[in-house]
Amino acid sequence: MSDIRRIIIDSDTGGDDAAALILAAKSPTVDILGVTVAAGNVPLPQAAQNALAALELAGCDAPVYLGADRPLNGEEKECFSVYGKDGMGDADLIHPVGKPQEKPAVDFILDTVRENPGEIEIMALGPVTNIALAIQKDPETMKQVKRIWSMGTAGFGPGNATPVAEFNAYKDAPAYKVMLELGVPVTVIGLDMDDEPTWTWEDRLQQMMEGSPIQRFVATSTRKLLEFKKGNGIAAVDLPDAVAMGCLVWPDFVEETTQCYASCITQPGETYGMVIFYREGFTYDSMPKIGACNVSVVSKAKKTEFVDRLNKVFAE
Ligand code: RIB
Ligand code: CA
Repeated sequence: MSDIRRIIIDSDTGGDDAAALILAAKSPTVDILGVTVAAGNVPLPQAAQNALAALELAGCDAPVYLGADRPLNGEEKECFSVYGKDGMGDADLIHPVGKPQEKPAVDFILDTVRENPGEIEIMALGPVTNIALAIQKDPETMKQVKRIWSMGTAGFGPGNATPVAEFNAYKDAPAYKVMLELGVPVTVIGLDMDDEPTWTWEDRLQQMMEGSPIQRFVATSTRKLLEFKKGNGIAAVDLPDAVAMGCLVWPDFVEETTQCYASCITQPGETYGMVIFYREGFTYDSMPKIGACNVSVVSKAKKTEFVDRLNKVFAE
């Protein structure tokens, strides 16, 4: 039996997704069977181009499949792209040689899981529309997924799309709810795992511009994000999707997970897209019993090692 883990990455490829794709592509313990893309950070065709370009730069020939160009119920939630119009710093970086596959993303996901029951891990880096569509099309097959890793939700901290909702869950809350209700193991890496200790500061980004082609690509593709963050008084970029990928590819990086029952708010209103975590074993004053736990939430990781670990991979 091989120790290589077989994964599908589902992505709305902007700058931090691209860094995550490169990290996975460079990791000797995972085999990327395919990358499925959905609209999110950028429209679908651009997400596909960005994914192809990132994989090619990393020397990875994993196929890219086109998925959903809008949320599950068709209702668009307006969010502007902090990564620039093309999701990659608007620096004319994206010129992939390859093209997306003909097969639709949902069919690729289902066929791959059918052929490898109980073996496939899915890393979700964007709104989970493709995953929800696959569940709706063939729930029994999707119950054979080994684990879903989700960069999504605010974790136990504040949101970014709204004070309480994180972008990926907010962009397609009905899809997030479908995923949570599937009943396979889900590991959630929320925004609280992507706070100050994991940020890359401007001086490091400048050093990266003098470094390897991958380091230059990542520093350039996040330059609009840096501008945006500086507008908020922070001279650093965060890469939540790469942090999430670190949790998958570096088994020692995660130090603690918390079992929870997670519930995603899909009713319109101020809390739309918020995911509430009810902790196992915690007695809530007004709730004698919570539902069965459906997620492991990463609650502690070696955050201070993240930037060095990532750059070591990118420097190779
Ligand atoms: O909230 C952070 C997430 O939203 C990341 O996946 C980022 O790429 C955007 O999709
Ligand atoms: Ca993303």
